[in-house]
Amino acid sequence: MASIKPRKRVLSGMRPTGKLHLGNYVGALENWVRMQDEYECFFCIVDWHALTTDYADTSHVKENSVEVMFDWLAAGLDPQKSVIFIQSHVPAHAELHLLLSMITPLGWLERVPTYKEQRENIKDKDLGTYGFLGYPVLQAADILAYKADVVPVGEDQVAHIELTREIARRFNGFYCEVFPEPQSLLTPAAKLPGTDGRKMSKSYGNTILLTDPEPLVRQKLKTMVTDPARVRRSDPGNPDVCPVGDLHKLFSRKETMAKVDEGCRSAGIGCIECKSWAADALVQILNPIQERRKKFEDNPRLAWDILEDGTKRAKAAAAETMKDVRAAMGMSLELN
Ligand code: TRP
Ligand code: SF4
Repeated sequence: MASIKPRKRVLSGMRPTGKLHLGNYVGALENWVRMQDEYECFFCIVDWHALTTDYADTSHVKENSVEVMFDWLAAGLDPQKSVIFIQSHVPAHAELHLLLSMITPLGWLERVPTYKEQRENIKDKDLGTYGFLGYPVLQAADILAYKADVVPVGEDQVAHIELTREIARRFNGFYCEVFPEPQSLLTPAAKLPGTDGRKMSKSYGNTILLTDPEPLVRQKLKTMVTDPARVRRSDPGNPDVCPVGDLHKLFSRKETMAKVDEGCRSAGIGCIECKSWAADALVQILNPIQERRKKFEDNPRLAWDILEDGTKRAKAAAAETMKDVRAAMGMSLELN
């Protein structure tokens, strides 16, 4: 009898910054939902990572974690298939972070592009902290605690996964072969514009939330920027340079896309009509997500049970790794 090959293990995480938007969905979540059938998946709400920047005011961290949890379940992460949990509920991440911090050279951390960039760009918080410099070590601990093979992330995280590999290699070299070297799996970069035409992002205030009700989605679309060359209704436009055109490409059916393409270029349709079709497509995607969310919001006990079960499973998996880690370092908890 052929033996069944064990599925590769996936771990990914998201910082709890509040309700998720369509950009989070097409940029990550939608892909995670698909991966659940092929991999053994661990999805972690990384609330300790939120503290690396928001340490002075922690009052929203917990409520944001809960929002993310609801959005994940609403989007279709399935506790029957995946382990869904909150980082701070699994203290092994902290233990591994500490041990990895011992072997991580400062220079590696100082060279991480996101570190340099954020130190320069974020001026309203003092990021000259030990914890902020150690952000990628904590991320490495998240990944290595589960001996993950694959880490689905966006482009901006590739350097962190590379660093994780370097830390794993260094650990394996000093002690013994404990960690596989995880590969990053780039989420196909769907360019999702926000209502102002820039990349959809919470910090730009241009988002469409997964929880936005239909009238709000329609209203946001009405104010969305279009091809700037199309000033009057009689001017022809170009969907390839229009953020609304981008939405159609991502979400509309082929027939609608064809109508948009033809109508826009010939000035046969107006932008108002075109936007209402884009809104139709968005609403169709959001409807089932919002229905699922309602089920959990109406019965939060369901979500807590899922979280409790996920925590248990994550703890068990991380505990196995930590046994190997302690043994490799000659620090097993057993007396001998
Ligand atoms: N740093 C990631 C981000 O900002 C979040 C994260 C933390 C993560 N731990 C992780 C992603 C582990 C993947 C795997 O998006
Ligand atoms: Fe954009 Fe549609 Fe207007 Fe063309 S018709 S400019 S695609 S909103």
